[in-house]
Order: sequence, then C-alpha cells, then structure tokens
Amino acid sequence: MPAPPRRRRSAPLAAVAAAALLTASLAACGQEAKGGSRYKAEKGKGGTVGLAMPTKSSERWIADGRNMARQFKSAGYKADLQFGDDKVENQVAQIENMIAKGHRLLVVAAIDGSALTDVLRRAKEADIPVISYDRLLLGTENVDYYASFDNERVGELQGGYIVDKLKLDEKKDEEFDVELFAGSPDDNNTKFFWDGAMKVLRPYIEKGQVKVRSGQTKMNQTTTLRWDGGTAQKRMDDLLSKNYGSEDIDAVLSPYDGISIGILSALKSAGYGSKDKPFPVVTGQDAELASVKSIIRDQQTQTVYKDTRKLAKQAVQMGDAVLTGKKPEVNDTKTYDNGKKVVPSYLLKPVSIDKSNTQRLVDDGYYKAGELK
Ligand code: GAL
Repeated sequence: MPAPPRRRRSAPLAAVAAAALLTASLAACGQEAKGGSRYKAEKGKGGTVGLAMPTKSSERWIADGRNMARQFKSAGYKADLQFGDDKVENQVAQIENMIAKGHRLLVVAAIDGSALTDVLRRAKEADIPVISYDRLLLGTENVDYYASFDNERVGELQGGYIVDKLKLDEKKDEEFDVELFAGSPDDNNTKFFWDGAMKVLRPYIEKGQVKVRSGQTKMNQTTTLRWDGGTAQKRMDDLLSKNYGSEDIDAVLSPYDGISIGILSALKSAGYGSKDKPFPVVTGQDAELASVKSIIRDQQTQTVYKDTRKLAKQAVQMGDAVLTGKKPEVNDTKTYDNGKKVVPSYLLKPVSIDKSNTQRLVDDGYYKAGELK
C-alpha cells in the first residue's frame, strides 16, 4: 500500500508556531523577555520583584527590605530593593525605574501614601501587581493587597499603657498631666494609631482626670512630619517651656520610637531623669534596639513590638501567590478603604513591650540577649 501523502505545514505558519513556542518557553523558564509585558502576564516563578522602602533612617525599614529581598530570592525571584530617603520624588523615580525594567511585582511602603497615584497608574498599564506594605497606598484603584499590622490596636496598646501605668482607674480623684504626639500626617497609619490611642484616653480627658495643658488634643495639632525625632524634640521643648514651668508632666503619648527619642531628649534638657524628677511615662512603637535599651535603663517606658520578619513573610507569600496565579491569604476585607477601594488585607498582631517583658524579644530571636545589654 502506498504511504499516505505527508501533510506539510507551510513555511510561514511553522515559523509563527516556533516563535510562539520560544516565547512561551522563555516565559516558563523565567527569563525576562524584552519589554516584559507578555512575560509579566504569564504566571509562574522567576523575574524580578521591586521593593520600594521609604527610608534607611529607621532600622525597621532596613530590616523589612532585607528580609523581603532574602525571602523573595528563596521563593525563586530576584529582588530590586530601593530606599527613598524620605523624599517623595526619589520614591516616584525608583518605582518608575522598576516599571521601566519590567519588574513583575511592586511592594511599596510609601513615604506619602497619596503621592503615588500617577506612577501606580503606569504600573497598572504595564500589568504589574502592587502590594501595599505596612502603610496603605491611598487614592488609587491600582493596589491589589495590603500587608500590615492591626494599626488601631497599636494605638490602643499605647493609650491603654498610659491608663494602666498611671493607674487612672484606681486613682480616680487624682489629676494627671499628659501631652499627645501623632505620627506623619501623610501616612495613613497615623490616623489609626491616633484613633486607637484616643479611643482609650479621650474618656479620661473628657472627665478632666487627664489634663492636656497645651490644649492640643486634635490630631492635626500633634502630628510629626516624616516621623522625625528632631521635629518632635522641638515641639516637646516648646510644650514644656510654655505649659509646665516647675510642674512635672506624667505621661507622653508617642506613636513611634524615633519620636520618643526626641521627646526624651527634650525631657532630659528640662531636667528629667533623676531620682527626684523621674521621666514621665513615654510610649513608642517598633521595638527599635536603641529604644528597647532605653526601656531597660528606665528612660522610655513602653514600645509596641511588630515582628517585621513576619510582615515580610506575609508580603512575600502574597506576592508569590499573585505571581503564580493563586489567591493570597487575607484576614480583613473591611477596614482599609483607601478612598477608591477597600484593599484586601492581612493584618498581624502587635505586642506591647515594657521593662517587664523585653525577654519576649530575645525568646522570639528578634534580638540576641547580648544586644540588649
Ligand atoms: C509607620 C509604621 C510604624 C513606624 C513609622 C515610622 O508607618 O507603621 O511602625 O515605623 O511608620 O517609620
């Protein structure tokens, strides 16, 4: 029997098929195709992830960036880690660069949560998913997920600490002097920290048991641009000299360790820190090494520990899920409305630390015992 005639593909069709195959296999083995857009649309491991952190002026962001870069690498990606030096224009330029290089995913801890809408539109046009890290990206549809802590709870822990430490519920007939500090006005977390703390403190202020001599009890009177310790120090110098004279202040609500350091410097200059004139209660946040040491030395009183390793892990899991076509795990789909959408979130639990439980940081491996000496 004669062999059936072999069907031959026409040459141009074969070339198209071969090219398609090549593109698919390039994408599959994780090499970056020129321009990146087709590649980015493919699901799977590989390629580069852009990590835009706000500043190196605080240990935590260095650790956040380093932890994420390491974990993304072990999950099968390259990492491009950039710090914005607390300047919005730097961060915008860094993200533009990441988009131009065809990175597959952006993880952004914003300097100013509302200042990135344009550049995030461009990320969307290039099909790049965006994860908002610790601080919510505001006023944009172009953010897919949010990894953070329960930020209102952070404020409750700070305000609640002041209530407990001053024993406000036992000493109902005594009055206490307290001053209030809030974080950076361009950071969405600031309002959550403030609201959490004031939910606890406001009733005591309203019944007159807690006095705020400066009269500055609104958030916009107490904010600290870019969380700057020097700015807080100046405000505290001013509050003390204008309102306290020889009277002692009992507590200061501080939302962040860097701000607490500024407040403590002002208190030292005003003669606090001796047996006769001990420091007031000063709260904080981030369990930065210098502040934990300060707590051990009876200067700062409290901080809120947020394990940045866990936050990094969460963001990496979210990013990896998005890139491999899976659904990231979230545990809150109501709280974080950025003005354009409610961003699905994963929120971790913060922990209050004072002199009585700094050991927790050692037990968790966050610090070595020797570092806290
Ligand atoms: C906030 C963050 C805090 C603290 C602060 C200053 O956004 O949630 O933990 O780090 O910035 O860096």
